[in-house]
Amino acid sequence: MANILIMYSTTDGHTLEICQYLKKVIERKDNRVTLHSMDDDSSVDMSAFDKIVLGASIRYGKHGKQVYRYIKNNQQILDSKPNAFFSVNVVARKPEKNRPETNPYLKKFLKQIAWQPRELAVFAGKLNYPIYTLWDRQIIRFIMWMTKGPTDPDTVIDFTDWNQVEAFGQLVSDM
Ligand SMILES: Cc1cc2nc3c(=O)[nH]c(=O)nc-3n(C[C@H](O)[C@H](O)[C@H](O)COP(=O)(O)O)c2cc1C
Repeated sequence: MANILIMYSTTDGHTLEICQYLKKVIERKDNRVTLHSMDDDSSVDMSAFDKIVLGASIRYGKHGKQVYRYIKNNQQILDSKPNAFFSVNVVARKPEKNRPETNPYLKKFLKQIAWQPRELAVFAGKLNYPIYTLWDRQIIRFIMWMTKGPTDPDTVIDFTDWNQVEAFGQLVSDM
């Protein structure tokens, strides 16, 4: 049995939903999973865990500053244990951009950080126009229009391939 920490950064809750799914998959194999946010200043004793997974969503082309900060402040302990990172973004709804080697955000992110995660994943995120501010909704609709995605302002679509999340959960259990 392994004691696994999943640290997440989310704005609208979808990354947390993915983490909760991962927790279910990983705990089926007799492991224990703790979820903790990177978005507040509360700290967690990483040394108490056997494996560490970080997951974060993209907003306007980037992961949040807190994600960079977290990695920078904890690089040594991250490197000392089996570890993984996953990114959540809607560009990954496109089959040609849904792998770590082909997703532009993850590729760029890995060049910006010193940490080299042992395992990587990219998951397509969720579009939820009704909950966005007017400003965000208009911008995302424009981006969707440019990239041939849905533009109806009532659209709520979960693009996540949950089988892919399941497979990543197995990978984390085995790493
Ligand atoms: C304001 C805003 C900006 C976003 N910017 C991007 C983006 O630049 N590229 C992208 O692929 N997805 C973008 N997304 C989509 C999010 O990555 C997606 O909705 C994800 O599921 C959000 O996860 P979270 O709820 O954990 O924050 C954006 C979403 C919002 C609301």
